[in-house]
Amino acid sequence: MTSDEASAQASAQAGAEATVRSDDRRHVFHSWSAQGLINPLPIEGALGSWFWDYTGKRYLDFSSQLVNVNIGHQHPRLVAAIQEQAARLCTVAPSFANDKRGEAARLIAELAPGDLNRVFFTNGGAEANENAIRMARAHTGRHKVLSMYRSYHGSTASAITATGDPRRWANEPTAVGLVHFWGPYPYRSPFHSGSEAQETERALAHLRDTIVFEGAGTIAAVLIETVIGTNGILVPPPGYLTGVRELCDEFGIVFIADEVMAGFGRCGEWFAVDHWRVTPDLITFAKGVNSGYLPLGGVIISDPIAETFAERPFPGGLTYSGHPLACASAVASIQIFKEEGIVEHARRIGEEVIGPGLRSLAERHPSIGEVRGLGVFWALELVRNPETREPLVPYNAAGADAAPMNEVAAACKERGLWPFTHFNRVHVVPPCTVSEDEVQLGLSILDEALTVADRYVG
Ligand SMILES: Cc1ncc(COP(=O)(O)O)c(C=O)c1O
Repeated sequence: MTSDEASAQASAQAGAEATVRSDDRRHVFHSWSAQGLINPLPIEGALGSWFWDYTGKRYLDFSSQLVNVNIGHQHPRLVAAIQEQAARLCTVAPSFANDKRGEAARLIAELAPGDLNRVFFTNGGAEANENAIRMARAHTGRHKVLSMYRSYHGSTASAITATGDPRRWANEPTAVGLVHFWGPYPYRSPFHSGSEAQETERALAHLRDTIVFEGAGTIAAVLIETVIGTNGILVPPPGYLTGVRELCDEFGIVFIADEVMAGFGRCGEWFAVDHWRVTPDLITFAKGVNSGYLPLGGVIISDPIAETFAERPFPGGLTYSGHPLACASAVASIQIFKEEGIVEHARRIGEEVIGPGLRSLAERHPSIGEVRGLGVFWALELVRNPETREPLVPYNAAGADAAPMNEVAAACKERGLWPFTHFNRVHVVPPCTVSEDEVQLGLSILDEALTVADRYVG
């Protein structure tokens, strides 16, 4: 390319970027934001673990966007499968039978544990939880749903009310009958326990008390993220999920595992529950099922709950339930995952590269209070004081209070790493297909960026 051609190309790019910015600022209304206080980065393209802006600056995607691009960006076979299906049949109403819808449901049911044999498709995770709650209520004839503090289940009415983080507050009052309880969190134990075993025991006793005091006969479901995602990558200690299963059985409560973020390879398993060999009654999924190439989510339903709706209509539906294009992408994605061994890769890279790499960062950086995770689902919990465990920024910090975390994120971005940060944590959540070299590069950038956090350690 001559220098004239290069400068013509640069000015065309700058013009394209200016249009994207101006359309966005004038017409796009963004999620969770004060519209006048944001300045979204225009993105031109993406491939594998990388995306780039209009200036050509590349970012290593250690966030998988919203922890959904499990297969990596623009996987050529997945793109081709979507193109092929678009040319063949873009859409049919949910009341018809369709080959890709049926195949996607069968493949998902084959992967799911136990007797979870049917799938109700939705457009995303919130709708999946909304409908799982609806199923549990109809199945049990009870109305309450118990969910955890430190959880996110989506932004529709029941899902946001079930959510146990500040995103719920501004939405209240909304749905009724949603009750929160504390889950296990050994690093900051709500039960003052001294070991994982004690944490499990006390967290289960607390859940039992909550059930008894709310009235077991009023409780339709316990809804929990198998591994809590945005609220901290909280991996349940051994025995906890089995204990939840047993409590649900004892009291006739439906166990809903929200695997919207934790499922489809993220935890180095097809479903995170596989890690503990626990079978819930309903599993909700979205994100990794097709890496968000098209909007898709759903509920995987056990035989007894499906049976409830054998003779009685299910009181819910969506125009795009089982959308053929979205389902074709799920079929292709699952096939690619199997053929390329992506779940196994996610497990191995977590055990052999990300986990050890983060633990070695923790040896060098006093601001790292804890490293936890599995698969490609990891968190660094940042603190001001490793002894007292005072968080680097307060819970739900904003403005000046959040500055230390914003500075860490900015240091990552300057160096070409796109991090996922939440409260006082950096989550390391690259695509399941991330290579060892990419992980090492991301860790070396984190190593530099964390010196910013270290300065706050007193
Ligand atoms: C655990 C969990 N459940 C539900 C949701 C909501 O999914 P969606 O944004 O697709 O509605 C999310 C989204 O981040 C999630 O992480």
